[in-house]
Amino acid sequence: MKNVRVNLGSRAYSVYIGNGALSNISSLVNVRQKNRPVFVVTNKKIKSLHGGLLKKHLKKISSNILFCEVPDSEKAKSFSVYLKTVSALSHFARKKTPLLVAFGGGVIGDLTGFVASTYRRGVPYINVPTTLLAQVDSAIGGKVAIDIEAAKNIVGNFYQPKMVVCDTHFLKTLPEKEVRNGLAEIVKYGIIKDKRFFSFLERNLRNIIKLEDRPLEHAIFKSCYMKARVVEKDEYDTKKMRAILNFGHTIGHAIEAASQYAKSTTHGQAVAIGMIKACYIALRLKMIKKSDYERMVSLIRRASPKIRLKYARQGRILNALSYDKKFTAGVNRFILPSGIGRVRVVDNIPQNLIKEAIQDS
Ligand SMILES: NC(=O)c1ccc[n+]([C@@H]2O[C@H](COP(=O)([O-])OP(=O)(O)OC[C@H]3O[C@@H](n4cnc5c(N)ncnc54)[C@H](O)[C@@H]3O)[C@@H](O)[C@H]2O)c1
Ligand SMILES: [Zn+2]
Repeated sequence: MKNVRVNLGSRAYSVYIGNGALSNISSLVNVRQKNRPVFVVTNKKIKSLHGGLLKKHLKKISSNILFCEVPDSEKAKSFSVYLKTVSALSHFARKKTPLLVAFGGGVIGDLTGFVASTYRRGVPYINVPTTLLAQVDSAIGGKVAIDIEAAKNIVGNFYQPKMVVCDTHFLKTLPEKEVRNGLAEIVKYGIIKDKRFFSFLERNLRNIIKLEDRPLEHAIFKSCYMKARVVEKDEYDTKKMRAILNFGHTIGHAIEAASQYAKSTTHGQAVAIGMIKACYIALRLKMIKKSDYERMVSLIRRASPKIRLKYARQGRILNALSYDKKFTAGVNRFILPSGIGRVRVVDNIPQNLIKEAIQDS
């Protein structure tokens, strides 16, 4: 089992990574968190696939466990689900301080973290992410939120978990589409921070997609390690540091908005296109060599095949970009590679270059 420490002073915690990592829960969890009422937030699908195993291990830390099921997908990050969850929690825990467990993908992690941050002005929670995206990205860093109709993640908080357990056993039931969704973020870490890791991904991509233990664990470990180092320097996202995690996300978010968050385009696919477009802009600005551009685009395409923008969508994407808060008042901000393993935050990219990048196929 591998371990990444997120050093945030009194809010520090560890991320444990490995096949079977959860079986160590009783020795990993802090003694203060034991014997509390344990409130697990999950959904029907995840509970039926893996709920039995989770319960078996949680019994080692408490005899009082309740599973609370929320709807699948982004629908769970709503006010009505939040309200139902908090009500069920208060009924279950009564006057005791509960321990919350998020058991699912990024949706359940974001919702549970938000419930934990607001219930009784903050109660402890553990994150047990079950998607690759959640294991390498959303479970670490303490951004918790729910959505409103007009905007995603607009009602939220920074609230760190007590512990994150990335047990790769749970990923074995994940459809390949969801594996590739997380893979786009893994490739992102290689491009923004670590050339050696990028080369590792070039060599091992296929085995990671097949969920082979060693390369998969290494990829998750390196991703968590890099995200932890960034979050430590910029916990509340007020400096430029955390912004580098948005590589590929400027155009990626515009693609998601232009498709009205249609399920046909996953977040990973949108980010993959966004990363390719950012590489194109960097190439045109002579920030990177053609050979590095080709290596980056080739790895992104291998991680996320079948990504081509439909001509009709290009206008809508440009339109969506103009609504991005980073683009208001004539200022825009891009995270661009300056080599493999390095990025820079660049403001004021000419509009015609953005247009050219979006039209490039
Ligand atoms: N907090 C952050 O820093 C942060 C970062 C990135 C994304 N997010 C949020 O994360 C969410 C996306 O997360 P996601 O991609 O994990 O999606 P998700 O939580 O919707 O999970 C994807 C699908 O996989 C299913 N699933 C989960 N685990 C499974 C398993 N082991 N086997 C089979 N199926 C399984 C889920 O039921 C769901 O249908 C978004 O709401 C996004 O805003 C948050
Ligand atoms: Zn992302």
